[in-house]
Amino acid sequence: MKFFADTAEIADIKELADTGLLDGVTTNPSLIAKSGRDFMEVTAEICKLTTGPVSAEVVALDHAGMMREAEILRKIADNVCIKVPLTIDGLKTCKALTGEGTMVNVTLCFSANQALLAAKAGATFVSPFVGRHDDNGFDGMALISDIRLIYDNYNFATEILVASVRHGVHVLEAARIGADVMTAPPSVIKGLFKHVLTEKGIEGFLADWAKTGQSI
Ligand code: E4P
Repeated sequence: MKFFADTAEIADIKELADTGLLDGVTTNPSLIAKSGRDFMEVTAEICKLTTGPVSAEVVALDHAGMMREAEILRKIADNVCIKVPLTIDGLKTCKALTGEGTMVNVTLCFSANQALLAAKAGATFVSPFVGRHDDNGFDGMALISDIRLIYDNYNFATEILVASVRHGVHVLEAARIGADVMTAPPSVIKGLFKHVLTEKGIEGFLADWAKTGQSI
């Protein structure tokens, strides 16, 4: 399963890229606003920190406007992936852009039928938001299972990008189901490295090693 960082914070992306485990980045208008940075400038910087896809979201709601914005965004770098909402205009834009060889991430997916439409529109990625789904009393991971089943039934190449990930259990479930990608805030990704027994084990080994008086 590929790991994308869901952030526009350069320092966090650098830190994760240095681990060698980062496969891409996703941003959205809220994350850009939170960073306080210029959209074009920060997206260009992020694109240099990873060779993987960097999702940059359009804000127009109509097909012509989305195409116009996508034209500007895809010139930033070869690894820009245009993020469009799961609407009729968004999927029209998806079909047009993927037909031209541009990567597209169809975002704000909340049902398996929506994911089916995204795949039919040739999306590179579909982003079901599991956290927001859970927050509203639905079962986010059941949605991922349904999409996996449907995509496998028809051999759709669209990658399931599990988004709105809140904690490690979401990551674990996504991997169990066989999602292609998950995107999570850097704090969630960094949390995956941690286990109290790993820390305790290191502490114990170092204490015993000190008793030997040896060095390597
Ligand atoms: C994905 O591409 C979105 O940017 C993101 O995962 C949304 O997460 P949130 O529900 O925590 O805002």
